[in-house]
Amino acid sequence: MSDRVYLNGKFIDKEKAAISPDDRGFYFADGVYEVIRCFKGNFFCFEEHISRLKSSLSKIRISYNGIDKLSSICKELIVNNNLENKYANVYLQITRGVSKRTHNFPGKDISPTIYIIANEKPPNKDKSKKGIKAITQTDIRWLRCDIKSIALLPNTLLFQEAIEKNAGECIFIRDGVITEASHSNVMGVKTGVLFTHPDNNLILPGITKRFVFQICNDLGIYVKETPIGNEDIYSLDELFIMSTGDDITPVIQLDDTKINNGMPGPMTRQIQREFFKNTYKKLAGEKNPWF
Ligand code: PDD
Repeated sequence: MSDRVYLNGKFIDKEKAAISPDDRGFYFADGVYEVIRCFKGNFFCFEEHISRLKSSLSKIRISYNGIDKLSSICKELIVNNNLENKYANVYLQITRGVSKRTHNFPGKDISPTIYIIANEKPPNKDKSKKGIKAITQTDIRWLRCDIKSIALLPNTLLFQEAIEKNAGECIFIRDGVITEASHSNVMGVKTGVLFTHPDNNLILPGITKRFVFQICNDLGIYVKETPIGNEDIYSLDELFIMSTGDDITPVIQLDDTKINNGMPGPMTRQIQREFFKNTYKKLAGEKNPWF
């Protein structure tokens, strides 16, 4: 059976979805997106994702008046694709719309293109349990990484390098500090303190990261919003990445250096357990964490 998708006001079979080659998303990557996790029919941090979407839209000056309908559209896609009892990701993309190719914004009669899909995405228990290897690369992205732009070529190029080195993520370094990773935020532990890059134009303000802040607050773990510098990256006690879909994944090797002897560290485990309680247990009814 074909996937059902939402395109510009209609639920249709994915095979029938057609987008004009004049869409500015195709010419210029002129659009933004969100990925929202759904735990067996229950969305995680839905409002937070929608509020970031609104912020991305406003930062690139796209006006879209259908925000209030997104919740029911996303729920309907979960049902239409038989994902109510599964783990799924909903992907929403909004571009400026269809117009002849000109660098300047087209006139007011253009309406944005809205495309939403829901796909099954089971949790990666093995990676959560054992951790992953990550590589580092220079952060070659633009200076507005706070916008969840669909222009992701630097991210995909650098992530592909990680894959080719049998690593699970590529961590970005800009001006001597860790910013974030190709599709996740990064936190590291050094002598009992958790460090992460502050939210600014150089990183995406992650929803999972914000949730980890709450967890740390509840657990009494101090998070210092100071980036991890070059001098510390190979002597961290613990390192982990977090994102929609990756949850909280320990990094047990960075380039050629093992972290915590190649084992997920105790603070990472504590945060993972709390994250599990608030997501897999609370939203999906799972009983046992897999770590
Ligand atoms: N990526 N940083 C970057 C560059 C990201 O692309 C993502 C998410 C994150 C984590 O954000 P959040 O916790 O809100 O998912 C950080 C999504 C999942 C993607 O591109 O598929």
